Amino acid sequence: METTFRPGLEDVVVAETELSLVDGDGGRLVVRGHPIETLATRRFEDVCGLLWDGVLPAPPRADAIRRGLAAGRCEAHREIGPALGADDAMAALRAGLAALRSGDEPPDAIRFRLTGAIAVFLAAWYRSRSGLAPLEPDPERGHAEDLLRLLSGAPAAAARVRGLDSYLVTVAEHGMNASTFTARVVASTRSDEVSAVVAALGSLKGPLHGGAPGPVLDMLDAIGRPDAAKAWLEAELAAGRRIMGLGHRVYRVRDPRALVLETALAELERTGVASRYLTLARAVERAAVEVLDAHRPERRLRTNVEFYTAVLLDALAIPRALFSAVFAAARVAGWLAHVAEERAANRLIRPRQRYVGPLPTGFDGPSLLAVG
Ligand code: COA
Repeated sequence: METTFRPGLEDVVVAETELSLVDGDGGRLVVRGHPIETLATRRFEDVCGLLWDGVLPAPPRADAIRRGLAAGRCEAHREIGPALGADDAMAALRAGLAALRSGDEPPDAIRFRLTGAIAVFLAAWYRSRSGLAPLEPDPERGHAEDLLRLLSGAPAAAARVRGLDSYLVTVAEHGMNASTFTARVVASTRSDEVSAVVAALGSLKGPLHGGAPGPVLDMLDAIGRPDAAKAWLEAELAAGRRIMGLGHRVYRVRDPRALVLETALAELERTGVASRYLTLARAVERAAVEVLDAHRPERRLRTNVEFYTAVLLDALAIPRALFSAVFAAARVAGWLAHVAEERAANRLIRPRQRYVGPLPTGFDGPSLLAVG
């Protein structure tokens, strides 16, 4: 009787998509026909339009998206209550989003509401936890600009807004990752957008997915100096722990988004916003690749997006308690595009499993062992 797993069960294709191509061997990411490197100079609003409409928005659509997201932020400000009492930022988003209404509305209305709400709830939660009053969104500002202002209370410099836009654009969409898959599964049951996004948020929260950047900074703090990196990393591996910000299920080369974020950091530095971690991070990356190559040469574990996410968000003065929540503020655009695509496909996602447990007497035969 055959009880072994087929190799590569996790590689099963569960959807067809026009949204993004993740080339794991070539280290390339294409979002609706655009290489990620060219999108990184765009604003978040543009990439929302690209993901939701299929083309980069031109006026008047570009203005409508900007105004729609601003209206979503203003609406969310009136509903921050459930988010404020949470223990951490992702719990705040989960509570805040779960309380949003989700009715039979035009797609834009619910997209603007959910995308606006994440920015507002994470900032309101952080200010409230810091003993400060949440601020009113400013409908005249762009999404990234207003998010920075809602957090700090002061208007953000143009270079910082540019840096945050680069980040939001770079991570908005990335294939069938765990949280996007979660959103698609929920959408495939014909459930609503709020439910899909709340479920996706739960997947994003884990340290193997969107929870990695906070621990990356903890690691840089623990290492402290470039010449301490190798020994520290070797000790982590010897203790059976993973190096955060390295490794990826799809990429076997350096994640292309790492370079995009490193370039955004260099641009910030050029405009006078220097990162306190960049030099150390580059040294730790070199040491980590060397140590992981010696540890697991066949896996080709390379830098993933979370490594330089941590350094960039820190340089933008975003507190590490908010890193995963800011990731959600970007990825929600991708989730909502996938929800729409899944709806159009109109077919329940119901993967199967291979049963490898014991069988009662009389239940024998390969057909029963196959799948279920
Ligand atoms: N550090 C040390 N070992 C790692 C590793 C890392 N960053 N990433 C993978 N490995 C090892 C695993 O321990 C495992 O070893 P084992 O076979 O002895 O148990 C092996 O490589 C395969 O692990 P698996 O989880 O199947 O690999 P994967 O390539 O599919 O995993 C991640 C992808 C992202 C889950 C994994 O690389 C990881 O945990 N990275 C750290 C967390 C992180 O940065 N997440 C953000 C992802 S964008």
